[in-house]
Amino acid sequence: MNYRILLLLGIAGLISVSSAWGATDAGKMDRQLCSVCHGPGGTTSSELFPHLAGEPAPYLVAQLKAFRDKSRADQNAKRFMWGISSRLSDEDIDALAAFYQSQPAVHQGKISDNAKYEAGKTLFNSGNAEKGVPPCMACHGEKAEGRDTVPRLGGQNEAYLKRQLKVFSTNDRPAALAMHEIVKGLTESDIESLAHFLQAQ
Ligand code: HEC
Ligand code: HEC
Repeated sequence: MNYRILLLLGIAGLISVSSAWGATDAGKMDRQLCSVCHGPGGTTSSELFPHLAGEPAPYLVAQLKAFRDKSRADQNAKRFMWGISSRLSDEDIDALAAFYQSQPAVHQGKISDNAKYEAGKTLFNSGNAEKGVPPCMACHGEKAEGRDTVPRLGGQNEAYLKRQLKVFSTNDRPAALAMHEIVKGLTESDIESLAHFLQAQ
């Protein structure tokens, strides 16, 4: 094969990639690129991956850009999100964020441990003044629904929530300034309780 044919094939490949993604066809990108992990429409049945459905678009935009510029750098971000986000344009990111925001959020509602649930609820609604923990509700919303660049936590996977609350005591999510301070006042058992309460919302 000569170079000209290779070049033509290369160009054809590029065209088919960009038209398959269709800068504004976020539903197609969801099916082709994201749903294998995050589930169709951003609701996944795997504890490994976060749900995206119903997350505020500005939060999703900020996170996708943080993966793309490699500033969100915990192990799973590196392993799963750095590669794919490097292939997204700003337009792709805006379209995907609007798409996931418009998908209905999951409400799992599974309470397997009442004491844990109640402890998490108290911390979420009232914080812990003694330890300098503000009520989570103040930023994340009364129903943990999130807004703007503050994420929805309600219905999120328990294992994912616990992992992130631990990531905030490292520098792997440098944009999360408020959370870095807040987790200093949380014990391991607070984290367990909060995650259990939140996944059930
Ligand atoms: C191979 C699996 C995989 C694929 C494919 C994938 N993701 Fe992810 N995604 C993950 C994992 C794992 C995380 C959690 C990363 C962490 O723990 O920091 C994540 C995190 C995210 C987050 C942050 C969520 C939050 O609550 O902070 C967003 C946004 C996201 N992915 C969007 C996408 C989009 C959009 C696509 C398709 C273009 C995509 N992902 C494709 C595995 C994947
Ligand atoms: C002052 C406002 C504020 C308060 C109070 C607050 N948060 Fe946050 N939280 C944020 C912001 C902003 C982010 C997004 C950080 C980023 O951009 O990386 C966040 C992110 C998170 C995440 C990551 C979610 C994801 O999808 O990756 C979790 C989990 C979380 N907060 C839990 C809590 C809990 C539990 C409390 C109460 C103990 C709390 N937050 C209190 C502002 C707040």
